[in-house]
Amino acid sequence: MTKLAKISFSRIAPPKGGMSVILAGEGLKLGNGASELVSGLAGGLQRFADIAGFSGKMKSSLDLLAPAGLGSDRLMVIGLGKSEELSKDDWRSLGGVVLSALQKAKTEAATIVLDAPEGTELSNELVAEFAMGAKLRAYTFDAYKSKKSDDEKPKDLKLTLQVADPKGARKSWTTSEGIADGVILARDLVNEPANVLGPVEFAKKAEELAMLGVEVEILGEKEMKKLKMAALLGVAQGSVRPPRLAVMRWNGGKKGAAPVALVGKGVVFDTGGISIKPAGGMEDMKGDMGGAAAVVGAMHAIAARKAKANVIGVIGLVENMPDGNAQRPGDIVAAMSGTTIEILNTDAEGRLVLADALWYTQEKYKPAIMIDLATLTGAVLVALGNLNAGLFSNNDDLAENLLSSAKTSGEPLWRLPLSKDYDKIIDTPNADVKNTGGRWAGSITAAQFLQRFANDVPWAHLDIAGTAFGAPKDDICQSWASGYGVRLLNQLVADHYEG
Ligand code: BES
Ligand code: MN
Ligand code: ZN
Repeated sequence: MTKLAKISFSRIAPPKGGMSVILAGEGLKLGNGASELVSGLAGGLQRFADIAGFSGKMKSSLDLLAPAGLGSDRLMVIGLGKSEELSKDDWRSLGGVVLSALQKAKTEAATIVLDAPEGTELSNELVAEFAMGAKLRAYTFDAYKSKKSDDEKPKDLKLTLQVADPKGARKSWTTSEGIADGVILARDLVNEPANVLGPVEFAKKAEELAMLGVEVEILGEKEMKKLKMAALLGVAQGSVRPPRLAVMRWNGGKKGAAPVALVGKGVVFDTGGISIKPAGGMEDMKGDMGGAAAVVGAMHAIAARKAKANVIGVIGLVENMPDGNAQRPGDIVAAMSGTTIEILNTDAEGRLVLADALWYTQEKYKPAIMIDLATLTGAVLVALGNLNAGLFSNNDDLAENLLSSAKTSGEPLWRLPLSKDYDKIIDTPNADVKNTGGRWAGSITAAQFLQRFANDVPWAHLDIAGTAFGAPKDDICQSWASGYGVRLLNQLVADHYEG
């Protein structure tokens, strides 16, 4: 069970008891609604602010208990900083900041006067972004905490946002809430331990998207054998749990229009296989399906807001285990494309899964563009840390679109190079390609490998090994799994491939 924020909207009106929240820019600048609310405050807001040293600095807070002259029992003031400069990212963060302040105050319901000082834009879209920040901040993964103390028991927090245009804000929120739900779905999938979430169980989660009108098709071992997906099957053969390929189709666009294809790495657990990983930190590899989780979350978001686009999601679901039947270093397999692959390291398994998933997707669906997401390399963490996902593409227009949607969605990307010379590094005398290029430029040679299976489709690869999980906690994410990619993919479809 996850802790959630329930959000509703109403007109700005004087409070009747309970917790009220207002926002104040630097110098204690208030919007009209907030001004009116504090107008009766005995002694005036400035006096309290002076005593507490509160000046409206971004994300700071001032907490007044039993404020005489106000209708509310408690008033919290949250700083906006230089309110004229607030961005969409800031409003999302502020939603998280307010939620966190309310949690610390042990509140279960609050009324937030969401207006802004003069000169500050606050559209319905930004109101919805604030609400999304609150909802994402409220998320925790505590399903397996059986002995909860009273403090830990999940309580839904009820937020009433008082806004200028409740009807319009509610409409914007319907869209944004679907996106937030997609992020939360992706977080849940990544946080879930691998004993609970194997390939079969993950595929069932994808099937649940049918409720939103997504067509879902699950391919089993037999179907994949028939398609000659020996690269994906080779990874799966060391596990007692059989692989799955889940295909999700959202047909919201023009009939017959080439779809946007999203492809995800879904390694439910990556031990490394026979090239086994060291024990330290191996538990993180329950999150090696972060790419697949982002694709499922994005499909949820896209379907929930009934996007006017055709979008296909394809996820390769396997477990990478060492076993008597596991593949060995030195093995050579023929991928669905016919390309032969020499496996030099069984821990470079994600690219093998994606090789067949990418080839299948482009051959079967002839997509306009194809984007894969994968927790593919430790090397991308060395290059970019937790703050940017690595972007690789064979197409500058697609790369530009992704970079611009990364900016608007607040899920950052940094482009890294591909070239013929990097591609040569994965040549081998024994087969068409080898699955590792050695120590240097590890993220790039992994991307070069994938490119060989994208055929000539405009394609991009997002290496999310640093961003899908384990990033430092922030205003909108307190969970190990971030759900990275859902907002970005949804934004990309909305900005560039809809209508
Ligand atoms: N799943 C890992 C990459 C990874 C590492 C994701 C850390 C998240 C955090 C991937 O399958 C892997 O093992 N990659 C190897 C490739 C190497 C063997 C060429 C790596 O990065 O070391
Ligand atoms: Mn691996
Ligand atoms: Zn992996």
